[in-house]
Amino acid sequence: MQIKFCEISTILWVISPIATVLSLSLTSDEISSELIRNEDNLKRIEDIKHNIFFSDELSSSEYHDDLDMEMGIDGNYEWDLLIFTQQWPVTTCYHWREEDKNHACKLPADKEFWTVHGLWPTKKGHFGPSFCNKTAKFDIHLLDEIKDRLNHFWPDIDGESKGDWLWKHEWLKHGTCAAELEELDNELKYFSQGITWREGFELSKMLDSAGIHPDSNNTVVAIHTALLNGLGKNPSIHCLYDSKTDISYLEEIRICFDKELNATDCDGVKHGDAVSIDYPGGTVITNCHISKPVHYPSLVPNKRRQAEKKWKFPIVNLYKLLQFIMWFTL
Ligand SMILES: *[C@@H]1O[C@H](CO)[C@@H](O)[C@H](O)[C@H]1NC(C)=O
Ligand SMILES: *[C@@H]1O[C@H](CO)[C@@H](O)[C@H](O)[C@H]1NC(C)=O
Ligand SMILES: *[C@@H]1O[C@H](CO)[C@@H](O)[C@H](O)[C@H]1NC(C)=O
Repeated sequence: MQIKFCEISTILWVISPIATVLSLSLTSDEISSELIRNEDNLKRIEDIKHNIFFSDELSSSEYHDDLDMEMGIDGNYEWDLLIFTQQWPVTTCYHWREEDKNHACKLPADKEFWTVHGLWPTKKGHFGPSFCNKTAKFDIHLLDEIKDRLNHFWPDIDGESKGDWLWKHEWLKHGTCAAELEELDNELKYFSQGITWREGFELSKMLDSAGIHPDSNNTVVAIHTALLNGLGKNPSIHCLYDSKTDISYLEEIRICFDKELNATDCDGVKHGDAVSIDYPGGTVITNCHISKPVHYPSLVPNKRRQAEKKWKFPIVNLYKLLQFIMWFTL
Protein backbone atom coordinates (compact mmCIF):
# COMPACT_ATOMS: atom_id res chain seq x y z
CA MET A 1 0.00 0.00 0.00
CA GLN A 2 2.62 2.48 1.09
CA ILE A 3 4.81 1.80 -1.89
CA LYS A 4 2.00 2.07 -4.36
CA PHE A 5 0.88 5.31 -2.85
CA CYS A 6 4.36 6.74 -3.19
CA GLU A 7 4.63 5.71 -6.80
CA ILE A 8 1.29 7.09 -7.82
CA SER A 9 1.88 10.18 -5.80
CA THR A 10 5.14 10.71 -7.61
CA ILE A 11 3.44 10.24 -10.93
CA LEU A 12 0.89 12.85 -9.98
CA TRP A 13 3.57 15.27 -8.97
CA VAL A 14 5.26 14.91 -12.27
CA ILE A 15 2.18 15.25 -14.41
CA SER A 16 -0.24 17.81 -13.22
CA PRO A 17 -2.53 17.97 -16.28
CA ILE A 18 -5.00 15.18 -15.87
CA ALA A 19 -5.15 14.55 -19.58
CA THR A 20 -1.68 13.16 -19.58
CA VAL A 21 -2.39 10.52 -16.97
CA LEU A 22 -3.45 8.10 -19.68
CA SER A 23 -0.34 8.50 -21.76
CA LEU A 24 1.89 7.32 -18.96
CA SER A 25 3.78 4.18 -19.48
CA LEU A 26 3.06 2.28 -16.35
CA THR A 27 5.46 0.04 -14.60
CA SER A 28 3.11 -2.69 -13.50
CA ASP A 29 -0.31 -4.06 -14.31
CA GLU A 30 -1.37 -3.44 -10.80
CA ILE A 31 -0.71 0.25 -10.90
CA SER A 32 -2.24 0.38 -14.32
CA SER A 33 -5.53 -1.01 -13.11
CA GLU A 34 -5.48 1.33 -10.15
CA LEU A 35 -5.05 4.25 -12.47
CA ILE A 36 -7.85 3.16 -14.71
CA ARG A 37 -10.10 2.94 -11.74
CA ASN A 38 -8.90 6.31 -10.65
CA GLU A 39 -9.46 7.65 -14.14
CA ASP A 40 -13.17 7.20 -13.57
CA ASN A 41 -12.91 9.36 -10.52
CA LEU A 42 -10.77 11.88 -12.30
CA LYS A 43 -13.22 12.18 -15.17
CA ARG A 44 -16.05 12.77 -12.80
CA ILE A 45 -14.09 15.50 -11.11
CA GLU A 46 -13.29 17.04 -14.48
CA ASP A 47 -16.95 17.00 -15.40
CA ILE A 48 -18.05 18.88 -12.37
CA LYS A 49 -15.10 21.21 -12.12
CA HIS A 50 -16.77 23.56 -14.56
CA ASN A 51 -19.98 23.61 -12.63
CA ILE A 52 -18.79 24.60 -9.23
CA PHE A 53 -21.42 26.46 -7.37
CA PHE A 54 -22.20 27.19 -3.84
CA SER A 55 -24.57 24.55 -2.61
CA ASP A 56 -25.43 26.95 0.13
CA GLU A 57 -28.43 28.91 -0.99
CA LEU A 58 -27.64 31.67 1.45
CA SER A 59 -24.65 32.71 -0.62
CA SER A 60 -24.52 35.85 -2.67
CA SER A 61 -27.08 36.40 -5.35
CA GLU A 62 -24.71 36.26 -8.29
CA TYR A 63 -24.54 32.54 -7.80
CA HIS A 64 -28.27 32.25 -7.87
CA ASP A 65 -28.38 34.11 -11.11
CA ASP A 66 -25.82 31.87 -12.78
CA LEU A 67 -27.59 28.86 -11.51
CA ASP A 68 -31.03 29.95 -12.46
CA MET A 69 -29.99 30.40 -16.05
CA GLU A 70 -29.13 26.76 -16.18
CA MET A 71 -32.32 25.64 -14.55
CA GLY A 72 -35.63 25.30 -16.25
CA ILE A 73 -34.24 26.07 -19.67
CA ASP A 74 -36.89 26.64 -22.30
CA GLY A 75 -39.65 25.85 -19.91
CA ASN A 76 -38.52 22.26 -19.55
CA TYR A 77 -39.39 21.61 -15.97
CA GLU A 78 -39.09 17.84 -15.92
CA TRP A 79 -37.50 16.20 -12.95
CA ASP A 80 -36.75 12.71 -11.65
CA LEU A 81 -35.99 12.99 -7.97
CA LEU A 82 -36.48 15.14 -4.95
CA ILE A 83 -33.44 16.08 -2.93
CA PHE A 84 -34.39 16.49 0.68
CA THR A 85 -31.70 18.56 2.34
CA GLN A 86 -31.10 18.86 6.02
CA GLN A 87 -28.52 21.26 7.36
CA TRP A 88 -26.46 21.44 10.50
CA PRO A 89 -27.36 24.92 11.76
CA VAL A 90 -24.12 25.42 13.66
CA THR A 91 -22.12 25.15 10.44
CA THR A 92 -24.57 27.19 8.40
CA CYS A 93 -24.41 29.90 11.03
CA TYR A 94 -20.62 29.86 11.19
CA HIS A 95 -20.41 30.23 7.43
CA TRP A 96 -23.02 32.93 7.40
CA ARG A 97 -21.26 34.96 10.05
CA GLU A 98 -17.83 34.53 8.54
CA GLU A 99 -19.06 35.67 5.15
CA ASP A 100 -19.88 39.09 6.48
CA LYS A 101 -19.20 40.40 9.93
CA ASN A 102 -22.60 42.08 10.02
CA HIS A 103 -24.42 38.80 9.61
CA ALA A 104 -26.17 37.37 12.61
CA CYS A 105 -27.94 34.07 12.97
CA LYS A 106 -30.81 32.50 14.79
CA LEU A 107 -30.01 29.04 16.01
CA PRO A 108 -32.61 26.47 17.04
CA ALA A 109 -33.13 26.28 20.79
CA ASP A 110 -32.67 22.52 20.73
CA LYS A 111 -29.16 21.16 20.78
CA GLU A 112 -28.07 18.53 18.31
CA PHE A 113 -30.84 19.51 15.95
CA TRP A 114 -30.70 19.19 12.18
CA THR A 115 -33.08 21.47 10.33
CA VAL A 116 -34.66 21.32 6.90
CA HIS A 117 -33.10 23.42 4.19
CA GLY A 118 -35.28 22.37 1.33
CA LEU A 119 -36.98 19.85 -0.89
CA TRP A 120 -35.53 20.22 -4.34
CA PRO A 121 -36.85 18.54 -7.48
CA THR A 122 -33.98 17.62 -9.72
CA LYS A 123 -33.34 16.00 -13.04
CA LYS A 124 -30.55 13.47 -12.99
CA GLY A 125 -27.35 14.94 -14.35
CA HIS A 126 -28.71 18.49 -14.22
CA PHE A 127 -29.37 21.19 -11.71
CA GLY A 128 -32.96 21.98 -11.07
CA PRO A 129 -35.42 22.74 -12.62
CA SER A 130 -36.43 25.74 -10.58
CA PHE A 131 -38.99 28.55 -10.65
CA CYS A 132 -41.40 26.38 -12.62
CA ASN A 133 -44.36 28.66 -12.20
CA LYS A 134 -43.59 32.29 -12.81
CA THR A 135 -47.06 33.43 -11.81
CA ALA A 136 -47.09 31.60 -8.49
CA LYS A 137 -47.20 33.65 -5.32
CA PHE A 138 -46.28 32.76 -1.80
CA ASP A 139 -48.95 33.15 0.84
CA ILE A 140 -47.71 32.61 4.37
CA HIS A 141 -51.25 32.28 5.67
CA LEU A 142 -51.70 29.00 3.87
CA LEU A 143 -49.16 27.64 6.33
CA ASP A 144 -50.83 28.94 9.48
CA GLU A 145 -51.67 25.50 10.79
CA ILE A 146 -48.08 24.25 10.58
CA LYS A 147 -46.31 27.52 11.31
CA ASP A 148 -45.05 26.44 14.74
CA ARG A 149 -43.67 23.21 13.39
CA LEU A 150 -42.08 25.02 10.47
CA ASN A 151 -40.38 27.40 12.86
CA HIS A 152 -39.12 24.39 14.76
CA PHE A 153 -37.99 22.11 11.95
CA TRP A 154 -37.46 24.48 9.01
CA PRO A 155 -36.20 27.75 10.48
CA ASP A 156 -34.30 30.44 8.65
CA ILE A 157 -30.84 30.59 10.22
CA ASP A 158 -30.28 34.11 8.90
CA GLY A 159 -31.01 36.26 11.92
CA GLU A 160 -31.85 39.35 9.88
CA SER A 161 -34.26 37.90 7.40
CA LYS A 162 -37.93 38.50 7.75
CA GLY A 163 -39.98 35.63 9.09
CA ASP A 164 -40.92 33.98 5.81
CA TRP A 165 -37.96 34.72 3.53
CA LEU A 166 -36.65 31.16 3.41
CA TRP A 167 -40.05 29.54 2.95
CA LYS A 168 -41.02 31.98 0.22
CA HIS A 169 -37.75 31.34 -1.56
CA GLU A 170 -38.06 27.56 -1.26
CA TRP A 171 -41.63 27.56 -2.47
CA LEU A 172 -41.10 29.79 -5.48
CA LYS A 173 -37.83 28.23 -6.52
CA HIS A 174 -38.43 24.57 -5.77
CA GLY A 175 -41.98 24.08 -4.54
CA THR A 176 -43.45 25.31 -7.80
CA CYS A 177 -41.60 22.47 -9.55
CA ALA A 178 -42.46 19.86 -6.94
CA ALA A 179 -46.10 20.90 -7.40
CA GLU A 180 -46.22 18.71 -10.48
CA LEU A 181 -46.97 15.88 -8.04
CA GLU A 182 -50.44 15.86 -6.61
CA GLU A 183 -48.96 15.04 -3.21
CA LEU A 184 -47.01 18.32 -3.25
CA ASP A 185 -49.20 20.62 -5.28
CA ASN A 186 -49.73 23.35 -2.75
CA GLU A 187 -47.74 25.13 -0.08
CA LEU A 188 -49.27 23.23 2.78
CA LYS A 189 -48.55 19.83 1.25
CA TYR A 190 -45.02 20.76 0.21
CA PHE A 191 -43.93 22.11 3.57
CA SER A 192 -45.76 19.36 5.47
CA GLN A 193 -43.82 16.80 3.47
CA GLY A 194 -40.56 18.42 4.51
CA ILE A 195 -41.57 18.24 8.16
CA THR A 196 -42.69 14.62 7.80
CA TRP A 197 -39.35 13.63 6.30
CA ARG A 198 -37.43 15.61 8.89
CA GLU A 199 -39.26 13.69 11.60
CA GLY A 200 -38.87 10.38 9.83
CA PHE A 201 -35.19 10.71 8.95
CA GLU A 202 -33.47 11.74 12.12
CA LEU A 203 -29.88 12.28 11.21
CA SER A 204 -28.80 12.92 14.78
CA LYS A 205 -30.02 9.49 15.78
CA MET A 206 -28.38 7.76 12.84
CA LEU A 207 -25.08 9.44 13.56
CA ASP A 208 -25.36 8.96 17.32
CA SER A 209 -25.96 5.27 16.97
CA ALA A 210 -22.66 5.01 15.13
CA GLY A 211 -20.91 6.93 17.88
CA ILE A 212 -20.73 10.14 15.86
CA HIS A 213 -21.71 12.97 18.16
CA PRO A 214 -21.42 16.74 17.83
CA ASP A 215 -18.04 18.10 18.78
CA SER A 216 -16.16 15.26 17.19
CA ASN A 217 -14.01 14.69 14.14
CA ASN A 218 -14.81 11.82 11.83
CA THR A 219 -13.90 10.71 8.38
CA VAL A 220 -16.52 11.23 5.74
CA VAL A 221 -16.40 7.48 5.22
CA ALA A 222 -17.44 6.88 8.83
CA ILE A 223 -20.28 9.38 8.41
CA HIS A 224 -21.28 7.72 5.17
CA THR A 225 -21.33 4.27 6.73
CA ALA A 226 -23.50 5.50 9.59
CA LEU A 227 -25.98 7.12 7.23
CA LEU A 228 -26.07 4.16 4.91
CA ASN A 229 -26.94 1.94 7.85
CA GLY A 230 -29.64 4.33 8.98
CA LEU A 231 -31.17 5.08 5.60
CA GLY A 232 -30.50 1.99 3.54
CA LYS A 233 -29.90 4.43 0.68
CA ASN A 234 -26.93 6.42 -0.52
CA PRO A 235 -27.20 10.07 0.53
CA SER A 236 -24.81 12.88 -0.30
CA ILE A 237 -22.70 14.50 2.37
CA HIS A 238 -21.63 18.12 2.16
CA CYS A 239 -18.96 20.06 3.95
CA LEU A 240 -17.88 23.62 4.11
CA TYR A 241 -14.18 24.13 4.19
CA ASP A 242 -12.67 27.02 6.07
CA SER A 243 -9.36 27.77 4.44
CA LYS A 244 -8.32 30.01 7.33
CA THR A 245 -8.25 27.11 9.71
CA ASP A 246 -8.01 24.27 7.20
CA ILE A 247 -11.00 22.60 8.83
CA SER A 248 -13.89 20.95 7.02
CA TYR A 249 -17.23 21.27 8.72
CA LEU A 250 -20.15 18.96 8.22
CA GLU A 251 -22.87 21.12 6.72
CA GLU A 252 -25.59 19.29 4.83
CA ILE A 253 -26.88 15.80 4.30
CA ARG A 254 -29.12 15.20 1.35
CA ILE A 255 -31.47 12.27 0.96
CA CYS A 256 -33.08 11.54 -2.38
CA PHE A 257 -36.65 10.48 -3.05
CA ASP A 258 -38.33 9.15 -6.13
CA LYS A 259 -41.64 10.42 -7.46
CA GLU A 260 -43.51 7.93 -5.30
CA LEU A 261 -41.85 9.71 -2.42
CA ASN A 262 -39.83 6.68 -1.45
CA ALA A 263 -36.22 7.15 -0.41
CA THR A 264 -33.75 6.20 -3.11
CA ASP A 265 -30.02 6.44 -3.80
CA CYS A 266 -28.68 9.86 -4.74
CA ASP A 267 -26.39 8.33 -7.39
CA GLY A 268 -26.60 10.18 -10.67
CA VAL A 269 -27.77 13.38 -9.06
CA LYS A 270 -25.74 16.50 -9.71
CA HIS A 271 -24.84 18.13 -6.42
CA GLY A 272 -22.73 21.11 -7.31
CA ASP A 273 -19.24 20.42 -6.15
CA ALA A 274 -19.87 16.94 -4.75
CA VAL A 275 -18.41 13.95 -6.56
CA SER A 276 -18.77 10.19 -6.29
CA ILE A 277 -15.69 8.77 -4.71
CA ASP A 278 -15.07 5.05 -4.55
CA TYR A 279 -13.49 3.68 -1.45
CA PRO A 280 -12.99 0.09 -0.45
CA GLY A 281 -16.48 -0.86 0.65
CA GLY A 282 -18.60 1.72 -1.11
CA THR A 283 -19.12 4.94 -2.97
CA VAL A 284 -19.60 8.18 -1.15
CA ILE A 285 -21.08 11.23 -2.82
CA THR A 286 -19.44 14.16 -1.15
CA ASN A 287 -17.46 17.36 -1.39
CA CYS A 288 -15.75 16.70 1.96
CA HIS A 289 -12.08 15.92 2.19
CA ILE A 290 -11.94 12.18 1.92
CA SER A 291 -8.84 11.60 3.98
CA LYS A 292 -9.10 14.43 6.47
CA PRO A 293 -11.29 14.65 9.52
CA VAL A 294 -14.66 16.28 9.09
CA HIS A 295 -15.58 18.39 12.07
CA TYR A 296 -19.12 18.09 13.40
CA PRO A 297 -19.22 21.17 15.60
CA SER A 298 -21.44 21.57 18.63
CA LEU A 299 -20.86 25.28 18.96
CA VAL A 300 -20.36 28.05 16.45
CA PRO A 301 -16.63 28.81 16.54
CA ASN A 302 -15.73 32.25 17.82
CA LYS A 303 -16.07 35.11 15.46
CA ARG A 304 -12.79 35.97 13.87
CA ARG A 305 -11.58 39.50 13.91
CA GLN A 306 -11.29 39.94 10.20
CA ALA A 307 -14.16 38.33 8.44
CA GLU A 308 -12.93 37.82 4.93
CA LYS A 309 -14.53 35.80 2.23
CA LYS A 310 -12.21 32.89 2.39
CA TRP A 311 -14.66 30.05 2.27
CA LYS A 312 -13.93 27.52 -0.32
CA PHE A 313 -15.18 24.15 -1.18
CA PRO A 314 -12.67 21.35 -1.10
CA ILE A 315 -13.02 20.64 -4.80
CA VAL A 316 -11.57 24.03 -5.58
CA ASN A 317 -8.31 22.57 -4.50
CA LEU A 318 -8.40 20.04 -7.27
CA TYR A 319 -4.87 18.90 -6.94
CA LYS A 320 -5.25 18.11 -3.26
CA LEU A 321 -8.44 16.24 -3.89
CA LEU A 322 -6.83 14.17 -6.59
CA GLN A 323 -4.23 13.16 -4.12
CA PHE A 324 -6.86 12.07 -1.65
CA ILE A 325 -8.55 9.99 -4.25
CA MET A 326 -5.36 8.42 -5.39
CA TRP A 327 -4.60 7.63 -1.82
CA PHE A 328 -7.99 6.31 -1.06
CA THR A 329 -8.65 4.12 -4.02
CA LEU A 330 -5.48 2.15 -3.52
C1 LIG B 1 -49.16 28.61 -11.35
O1 LIG B 1 -49.58 29.27 -10.18
C2 LIG B 1 -50.85 29.86 -10.29
C3 LIG B 1 -51.08 30.65 -9.01
O2 LIG B 1 -50.97 29.81 -7.89
C4 LIG B 1 -51.88 28.77 -10.52
O3 LIG B 1 -53.15 29.33 -10.63
C5 LIG B 1 -51.52 27.98 -11.77
O4 LIG B 1 -52.40 26.91 -11.92
C6 LIG B 1 -50.11 27.48 -11.68
N1 LIG B 1 -49.73 26.92 -12.95
C7 LIG B 1 -49.30 25.68 -13.08
C8 LIG B 1 -48.90 25.25 -14.44
O5 LIG B 1 -49.22 24.93 -12.12
C1 LIG C 1 -11.36 18.22 15.94
O1 LIG C 1 -10.45 18.83 15.06
C2 LIG C 1 -10.24 20.21 15.30
C3 LIG C 1 -9.37 20.74 14.20
O2 LIG C 1 -8.20 19.98 14.07
C4 LIG C 1 -9.64 20.41 16.67
O3 LIG C 1 -9.47 21.79 16.91
C5 LIG C 1 -10.58 19.82 17.69
O4 LIG C 1 -9.99 19.90 18.98
C6 LIG C 1 -10.91 18.37 17.37
N1 LIG C 1 -11.96 17.93 18.27
C7 LIG C 1 -11.91 16.77 18.90
C8 LIG C 1 -13.03 16.48 19.82
O5 LIG C 1 -11.00 15.99 18.74
C1 LIG D 1 -43.01 3.07 -2.42
O1 LIG D 1 -43.51 2.87 -1.12
C2 LIG D 1 -44.79 2.27 -1.07
C3 LIG D 1 -45.19 2.18 0.36
O2 LIG D 1 -45.05 3.40 0.97
C4 LIG D 1 -44.77 0.91 -1.73
O3 LIG D 1 -46.06 0.36 -1.74
C5 LIG D 1 -44.25 1.03 -3.13
O4 LIG D 1 -44.09 -0.25 -3.70
C6 LIG D 1 -42.91 1.76 -3.15
N1 LIG D 1 -42.51 1.96 -4.53
C7 LIG D 1 -41.35 1.56 -4.98
C8 LIG D 1 -41.10 1.86 -6.42
O5 LIG D 1 -40.53 0.97 -4.32
